Amino acid sequence: MNLIISRTVDEYIKSFTRPDSGTLELERFSSQDLTISDVRSYIEPETGKFINLLIHVTRAQRVLEIGTCTGYSAIWFGEALKKTGGRLYTVEHDIQLVNEAVVNIREAGLEDTVEIIHEDAFKALAGFEDGFFDIIFQDVKKALYVSLHGECVRLIKPGGLIIADDTLFKPLNVYYKFGEQTDAYNRLVFADKRLYSAIVPIGEGLTLSVKL
Ligand SMILES: C[S@@+](CC[C@H](N)C(=O)[O-])C[C@H]1O[C@@H](n2cnc3c(N)ncnc32)[C@H](O)[C@@H]1O
Repeated sequence: MNLIISRTVDEYIKSFTRPDSGTLELERFSSQDLTISDVRSYIEPETGKFINLLIHVTRAQRVLEIGTCTGYSAIWFGEALKKTGGRLYTVEHDIQLVNEAVVNIREAGLEDTVEIIHEDAFKALAGFEDGFFDIIFQDVKKALYVSLHGECVRLIKPGGLIIADDTLFKPLNVYYKFGEQTDAYNRLVFADKRLYSAIVPIGEGLTLSVKL
């Protein structure tokens, strides 16, 4: 359940959040798989829909996701990018998750839109040129948000968006250790003069930063 808003509001929003793809059947990516070990935790469907909408609004062509897991969020973004004619590059270091994601992406018919990069995030990001991406989605291990920030700013084009998930863990008082890490990330981006940032209370929080 969304931890921010009341159950009634949460259920109301979710009632408008039908998956865009049959592959996004929520049971397939069941919350039974959720752990707080930061491995199997998927974005909320309403977060998927919101970023899908941002891809449409910005007509994004190149989107980077850091942290694929089994491809749930990649399918939300891939559905939008199929329509904008763009491409999603999504990075995952765990081969078992990569294999699951490959199957899910193929079942969604998005294999020509979504490229899964099996690599450590630092190594993968180093391979792209400055300003390559229109949107970057940080959903990797929370401890890495701060250390990957410099690379994200390098890789995002001026006017592009860096989006980080789970950034309200601290005030929600959940997953204490991760809350400190996402709080450190928020402090970093709000102090970064190259960016203009805002926090949106959707899912467990999204921090959006536009590169000035
Ligand atoms: C929160 S999950 C991603 C969930 C996914 N975005 C979704 O909503 O469906 C974070 C993922 O980051 C991966 N990860 C953690 N550290 C990584 C690293 N250094 N490089 C690449 N992937 C990493 C984990 O294996 C995990 O699958």
